Amino acid sequence: MNLLVIHGPNLHLLGRRKPAVYGTATMAQLNAAIRKRAAALGFKVRVFQSNSEGRIIDLLTANAGWADALVINPAAYTHYSYAIRDAIEALELPAVEVHLSDIAKRESFRRVSVIKPVCLAQFKGEGAGSYMKALDYCASIKRK
Ligand code: DQA
Repeated sequence: MNLLVIHGPNLHLLGRRKPAVYGTATMAQLNAAIRKRAAALGFKVRVFQSNSEGRIIDLLTANAGWADALVINPAAYTHYSYAIRDAIEALELPAVEVHLSDIAKRESFRRVSVIKPVCLAQFKGEGAGSYMKALDYCASIKRK
C-alpha cells in the first residue's frame, strides 16, 4: 500500500507547542515513528507538513494518483476547512483523520470536525498512538 500522510498547520512546532496538550515529541520524532510503523506494515509512505490550506489541497491532488490511502491531521483546518473536506471527497481518497489531542474534550470550536464526514475513521487523543492506530487501520483498507 502507498500511504500519504499530511500534517496541517503548526504541527511543525511539535515538541515546543503546548507540550501538556501535544506531548514533547518533535515532528521529526513523530515522522520517524510513522515511517517505522509504515515499514513494519509493508507500506510505502510519503509524509508532508504544511501551514497552508491551498498547499495541502495541492499535495492531495498531486499525490492522489499514487496514494492508496490518506492519513491526515488537518490541525486547525479540521474545524472549518470545507475546501480540504471537498478535496478529499473529490479525489475519492480513502482517508483517516487523526489528532494528537482529544478534540472532543477541548474548547467547543474544536469539537466540530468538518473533515470527519469524508473519512473512514477518526483516531484522537493518543498522541503519536493516534497515528499508529490510523496506520494499522489503513492496513485493513482494500486497495484501489
Ligand atoms: C490537533 C487539534 C486541533 O484542534 C489543533 O488546531 C491542532 C492539532 C491535534 O492533533 O490534536 O493544531 O489537530
